[in-house]
Amino acid sequence: MSTLSTSLPGGTWTLGDLTVTRFGYGAMQLAGPGVMGPPADRDGALAVLREVIDLGITHIDTAAAYGPRVTNQLIHEALRPYPESLHIVTKVGAIRDEHGGWPPARQPEDLRRAVHENLETLGLEVLDLVNLRLGNAQGPQPGSLAEPFETLVELQQQGLIRHLGVSNATAEQVAQARAIAPIVCVQNMYNLAYRQDDELIDELAEEGIAYVPFFPLGGFSPLQSSALSAVAARLDATPMSVALAWLLQRSPNILLIPGTSSVAHLRENVAGAGLSLSDEELAELDKIGH
Ligand SMILES: NC(=O)c1ccc[n+]([C@@H]2O[C@H](COP(=O)([O-])OP(=O)(O)OC[C@H]3O[C@@H](n4cnc5c(N)ncnc54)[C@H](OP(=O)(O)O)[C@@H]3O)[C@@H](O)[C@H]2O)c1
Repeated sequence: MSTLSTSLPGGTWTLGDLTVTRFGYGAMQLAGPGVMGPPADRDGALAVLREVIDLGITHIDTAAAYGPRVTNQLIHEALRPYPESLHIVTKVGAIRDEHGGWPPARQPEDLRRAVHENLETLGLEVLDLVNLRLGNAQGPQPGSLAEPFETLVELQQQGLIRHLGVSNATAEQVAQARAIAPIVCVQNMYNLAYRQDDELIDELAEEGIAYVPFFPLGGFSPLQSSALSAVAARLDATPMSVALAWLLQRSPNILLIPGTSSVAHLRENVAGAGLSLSDEELAELDKIGH
């Protein structure tokens, strides 16, 4: 097992045998508009990735579907040879259509192709952690994950994947996956204002499984709430900082993967996530999502 000391807010978490900083980075925003095509500012995107490493972040979330292939290629170009401490997490289970949609692609051959596409575009021989992305753009959808998840287990047994997780999943699908093979994380939508998974987060914490909220800052429509703005103003902080600090304090198994295409925002988010929120502030923020 690797050890890692960090001064980043939140400290570290261990995914299986991989230690990562709880403050990670989500690379999706590095692709072009609508997560299609290359970024308008390519050098800026590469600079953000290098800053991620300079700040000591060791967890990057990506997918071959971003761009498609664009964010993986940027990560490859900016960061190879990868620092030993860095762990890149990918997801499979959706592809892109010509309109920028995200149709599911979860047949065994789709998943094999996607794993190899991630390996190739990232320049890796093994993927540290692959999430099976379920549901659709509307969110998690009920249904068995047995066939696609077993396909990923086979690829894991072949040595192409170290650890598995699920994404955009219902609590039932999380339980079903765990009955088939160990998972180290669940990546679902969750933030101050969208708290569908409160119960699941607490259950996973007890089992030592990470919960990785996507859209921690609200995603394509930034979090807006008068209560959030009021707490932020009182603390002389930005609403983004408060939203990230709240997630870190919400549960020790929560890992952050906020996205940004800006070095300044990345630095601001790292600095802001270390805010200490009092019980009174936490209670005030709690009301936003209830
Ligand atoms: N599993 C899934 O289905 C799924 C779905 C969606 C996303 N994800 C993952 O989750 C990660 C996070 O999601 P996300 O990036 O879409 O949403 P997010 O982290 O909630 O928000 C990103 C947005 O916030 C803005 N932002 C970040 N820091 C800011 C700051 N300090 N001040 C002002 N604006 C700021 C960014 O704009 P700027 O670029 O201008 O900073 C960007 O538009 C993604 O990168 C991806 O890896 C997974």
